[in-house]
Amino acid sequence: MPAKSKAKSKNEEPNEEEVTIMTEEMLSEASIEDLPGVGPATAEKLREAGFEELLAIAVMSPSDLADQAELGEAVANKIINAAKKMANIGGFVSGSDLLERRREVMKLSSKVSTIDELLGGGFETQALVEVYGEFGSGKTQIGHQLAVNCTMPLEDGGFDGDVFYIDTEDTFRPERITQMARGHGLDPEKVLERIHVARAYNTAHQMLLAEEIKRLSRGLNVKMIIVDSLTSHFRAEFIGRGMLANRQQKLNRHLKDLKQLADINNALVLVTNQVHSKPDAMWGDPTKPVGGHVLAHASTFRLYLRKAKAGRRIARLVDSPNLPDGECVYQVTEEGLRD
Ligand code: GTP
Ligand code: MG
Repeated sequence: MPAKSKAKSKNEEPNEEEVTIMTEEMLSEASIEDLPGVGPATAEKLREAGFEELLAIAVMSPSDLADQAELGEAVANKIINAAKKMANIGGFVSGSDLLERRREVMKLSSKVSTIDELLGGGFETQALVEVYGEFGSGKTQIGHQLAVNCTMPLEDGGFDGDVFYIDTEDTFRPERITQMARGHGLDPEKVLERIHVARAYNTAHQMLLAEEIKRLSRGLNVKMIIVDSLTSHFRAEFIGRGMLANRQQKLNRHLKDLKQLADINNALVLVTNQVHSKPDAMWGDPTKPVGGHVLAHASTFRLYLRKAKAGRRIARLVDSPNLPDGECVYQVTEEGLRD
């Protein structure tokens, strides 16, 4: 859709008549200035806050958009509604449209044939994958390995993409990336350049970092977002029954932001999670992942990791929408994950 020649003032109200529903192709070419009521000033605010695409705006709530882009809430509301219409969000879509979108799904190879088989070919984009298990079960190793693999060329099972890594436990190790990159014959420096790491100091910081990815990803081909660990700060900060509702609400919000990144970028989101260390009233069953129903619902795939004899590891697929539950065995070696 060509940009309107008429200059718009930022106070101009969106006019319903002007809103056209766009095809995928039009959508990819449309700019936020095509939104009725968005003049240069508003467009700049939106861009500064990381909203470059209609879809990114369409999925926001008015108060969040108002906050993040420093707009009035009424203005934000109108912009969102227009973006929803243009991007045809909020309406039902046909099964064939969904199938079309599913066709865009890419699968990241772990380069371990048993794991890829368990996952029906690899780790899917547009999905949130939760990896949980005890300390030392290898969750962080999976995060490191997939970060490396994400930078590999498409023909080698990678995404030729950039990775955002939110590290809450200070366990990201560039040295480990170097080993794993070498293990696949990659140039470690090139791999490290494409992995963008931030240490999160508390839940508020962790949530902010996830929001920031939208803005920081400009000019990058973001294909994977890792949060290791998703839940440790939440567990540490929200203690006691009285905090449970508040915690779950925050966690839910964080997961929505992450899922949005997966959808908008056709990217994979990988989060790690612990199991309950002991039975307790707030956290429940000691063999279950923490995070409760909120996380259970948000995860598209859940992988349960545990150690086995002779340095072997077992990954169990739990709760997948389209794959049978099952297990596979692999190893963690100096070069990375191997069959
Ligand atoms: P927490 O974060 O503490 O909950 O644990 P985690 O599940 O993230 O465990 P992590 O991924 O850090 O796994 C650590 C384990 O990976 C170690 O105990 C080793 O068994 C294995 N590991 C890590 N680095 C190497 C390595 O260079 N060589 C080999 N052979 N194994 C390694
Ligand atoms: Mg870890």
